[in-house]
Amino acid sequence: MLRIEHLHQYYDESHILRDVGLHVPHGRCTCLMGRNGVGKTTLLGCIMGLLRPASGRIDFRGTDLTRAAAEQRAGLGIGYVPQGRQIFSRLTVRENLEIGLATGRRKKKGIPEIVFELFPVLAEMQGRRGGDLSGGQQQQLAIGRALVLEPELLILDEPTEGIQPNIVQEIGAIITRLIDEMGMTVLLVEQKLRFVRAVADRFAIMDRGSIVVHGGLEQLDDHLVRRYLTV
Ligand SMILES: Nc1ncnc2c1ncn2[C@@H]1O[C@H](COP(=O)(O)OP(=O)(O)OP(=O)(O)O)[C@@H](O)[C@H]1O
Ligand SMILES: [Mg+2]
Repeated sequence: MLRIEHLHQYYDESHILRDVGLHVPHGRCTCLMGRNGVGKTTLLGCIMGLLRPASGRIDFRGTDLTRAAAEQRAGLGIGYVPQGRQIFSRLTVRENLEIGLATGRRKKKGIPEIVFELFPVLAEMQGRRGGDLSGGQQQQLAIGRALVLEPELLILDEPTEGIQPNIVQEIGAIITRLIDEMGMTVLLVEQKLRFVRAVADRFAIMDRGSIVVHGGLEQLDDHLVRRYLTV
């Protein structure tokens, strides 16, 4: 579904992404892992068109995205839940969701029922300001906002960061439902191993800007965890 080949990216002089290759197969959850600062968010920024790679290729269902404008992603069926959630704290829950609608070229009239079905708390709190929500509720709102255009590929950057354990479990259950019931494909950046083992079926580990290992989750053993993931 998503295929990245030989991708290089720089921030000024610093060479961050180094020959990145990654394949995200349809209808599954692939987890991108790696220690802080290795380049995970930078790679997502390139996929979303927020950052410009120096060279390489990003292909989504046969469309070359490498140089496409950021606005195109939503129209093509890619939803993005950024690290740190980036909710508009002065806007209401409903307005935050409507912003998700506005980014698409697919003419969707309203917020689809499924968003409120998945996150009943968003239906209850529609008129509240984003900033009044708890961290976990804001994360649910960020996911809901990415789902309003009913994407085929959902990309989430550390959705469990700083969130209470009960909401973490709920988010895991929702990701599983999106894949199993709605046929969605998920690319997840995540550091919590238990969460990864609960939701993902493939993994890729990034180290100093390159993908160094990838495979099925059963291949993610203690040796790899010690070498690339624990601090
Ligand atoms: N806007 C920027 N300008 C310059 N350097 C940056 C910028 N954003 C990130 N970097 C650097 O690029 C490297 C990769 O950062 P990135 O945010 O992609 O890492 P990450 O793997 O997502 O880390 P984390 O797990 O902490 O979220 C880091 O060394 C970071 O300091
Ligand atoms: Mg990051």
